[in-house]
Amino acid sequence: MVRQGEVLGAAVSFAALPVILASPPAASAQQAAAGNAAAGARQFLACRACHTVAPGGANGVGPNLAGIMGAKAGTRPGFAYSPAMKGTTLVWTAAEMDAFLARPNARLPGNKMAYAGMANAAARRDLVAYLATLKAK
Ligand code: HEC
Repeated sequence: MVRQGEVLGAAVSFAALPVILASPPAASAQQAAAGNAAAGARQFLACRACHTVAPGGANGVGPNLAGIMGAKAGTRPGFAYSPAMKGTTLVWTAAEMDAFLARPNARLPGNKMAYAGMANAAARRDLVAYLATLKAK
């Protein structure tokens, strides 16, 4: 009987563990909602082949992305956009950018960005947080 009680005691303290661990993740969950720009910089390696980010940087296969958050889509100077991108009224809010990066062709059919999309929502949030650090000047 004593033995059983000991086993039960151990079970109870293990059961309490998730409750103890539940408090710190609340703060990091909030951080995840905003996205982690440093992690997003690493996600951006998938974009670098086609996009520069320095203010006034050259357009490549894709347009320069300095100051892209908050900008109207398809308006970078000197870039030959597809009619789909040029003709849209879309403005790059965090939500629009997230939807576009998840599946570029679903959000803006006919655009010519040869990128299938980023399925991982947390990775996209980080990437959008990074894009927000790219100032126009
Ligand atoms: C293979 C080349 C390529 C890759 C990789 C690529 N892009 Fe693009 N991107 C383009 C092209 C080309 C356009 C212009 C599309 C059009 O005109 O339809 C574009 C357009 C965009 C735009 C709209 C710009 C504007 O002026 O409105 C954003 C934002 C963007 N890309 C972000 C990204 C991000 C973030 C990644 C990485 C996850 C990425 N792209 C990966 C080629 C690429």
